[in-house]
Amino acid sequence: MKAIGSAHPLPISEPASLQDFELPTPDPDMRDLLVRVEAVSVNPVDTKIRRSQVAAEQVGVQRVLGWDVAGVVEAVGAQVSLFQVGDEVYYSGSLIRPGANSEYHLVDERVVAKKPVSFNMAQAAALPLTAITAYEALFDRMTIPFQRDSDGQAILIIGGAGGVGSLAIQLAKIANLHVIATASRPESQAWCKKMGADKVIDHTQSILEQLEQLHRPMVEYILNASQTDQHWEAMCKVIKPEGRICGIVDTSESVDLNALKSKSATFVWEFMFTRSMYQTDDMIEQHHLLTRIAEWVDHQKIQSTLTETLSPINAANLRTAHATLESGRMIGKLVLTGWPS
Ligand SMILES: NC(=O)c1ccc[n+]([C@@H]2O[C@H](COP(=O)([O-])OP(=O)(O)OC[C@H]3O[C@@H](n4cnc5c(N)ncnc54)[C@H](OP(=O)(O)O)[C@@H]3O)[C@@H](O)[C@H]2O)c1
Repeated sequence: MKAIGSAHPLPISEPASLQDFELPTPDPDMRDLLVRVEAVSVNPVDTKIRRSQVAAEQVGVQRVLGWDVAGVVEAVGAQVSLFQVGDEVYYSGSLIRPGANSEYHLVDERVVAKKPVSFNMAQAAALPLTAITAYEALFDRMTIPFQRDSDGQAILIIGGAGGVGSLAIQLAKIANLHVIATASRPESQAWCKKMGADKVIDHTQSILEQLEQLHRPMVEYILNASQTDQHWEAMCKVIKPEGRICGIVDTSESVDLNALKSKSATFVWEFMFTRSMYQTDDMIEQHHLLTRIAEWVDHQKIQSTLTETLSPINAANLRTAHATLESGRMIGKLVLTGWPS
C-alpha cells in the first residue's frame, strides 16, 4: 500500500522531510479495524513529531504520521463488536501506533465512530482530533455540563480560529455559555464569529483590558488552545474565583501555580491521546463522544471547520500542509483526500 513517512527530523522545505514509500497492508487482530483511508487532516502534533529528534537506531526508519481520518472499514479483528465491513468511520487513533498517512490503517474500535452522514469524507476527516480535544477539555476536564440552561456564565477561548478553537467555540455554544474567543487578524476574527463566538478579542493586546471593556473582567472558564505559559499571567488575572482553566500545550517556561491559590481556581491539562496511550478503562468514551459529535453535526448543531482541501494524498501535498500548519496562522482545518492512481 502507499504510505507517506518521515525518516529524518528535517525542515519542511527539504523534500526528504516527508516521502512517499510502500508498506505491506496490515491485518486486523483483536479489536482492530482495518480502515481504507479516504481523507486525512493535518494537526500541529504531526509537525512537532516530524521535527522531533529520534533515537539513533530510528534515524532513517520511516515513521508514518497522521491522526485524523475518515474512511471505510475494510476488515475487522475477531473481537470487534461495534462495526462491520463497509461502515464509514472517522477517528483520531493512537499516538503510540503508526499514524494514518497510508492507504490502509489499523485502529482500535473503541476510539472510532461512524462518521456524520451529512458530511463528506473531507469534512469528516477535519473533525476528530480537534473535536475530541475540545469535547474532553470542556466536558470531561473542566466538567462543564453540556446540557445546561443559559445563566450568563462565560468562557474565554484563546486561539479561537485554529482547529481546536473552532470546535471549542461551537461546543461551548451547545453548552449555552457566553463565548469570548481570541483572534488577531480580521479574517480569523470573522471566522470565530462564524463558528458562533459572541465576542472576539485580540490575543496580541491586553486580554484583561479588553474583557474590562466588555464589562466582563473575569470569566468562569478558560480554554487556552495556544501557548500555556505565554498567556498564564493573563489567565490567572481573568479567571473568576473557583473558576477552571484548561491547557493543551506544554509549557516551555515554568509557571506560577500559586497565582491560582487565593482564588481556589483549578488548572487542568487535556491531552486527547491519554485514553488510547494508557488504554484507560474509559477508553471507549472516545467512541461515545465521537458518536455524539456526529449526531450534533447531523442535527446542524455543529458546522464544518474544513477550510482547505488538497488532493491527492501524497508527500508533496503533505509537505505543503505541514508548512501551512507551521505558519501558526491556520484558520479551521486543512484536509488531504484521495490516493494517486
Ligand atoms: N493536548 C492536546 O490534546 C492537543 C490537541 C490538539 C492540539 N493541541 C495543541 O494545541 C495547539 C493548537 O492546536 P490547533 O490545532 O488549534 O492549531 P492551529 O489550528 O494551527 O492554530 C492556529 C491558530 O492559532 C492562533 N494563534 C497563533 N498564535 C497565537 C497566540 N500567541 N495566542 C493565541 N492564539 C494564537 C492563530 O490565530 P490568529 O491567526 O488569529 O493569531 C491561528 O488561528 C497546538 O500547539 C497543538 O499541538 C493539543
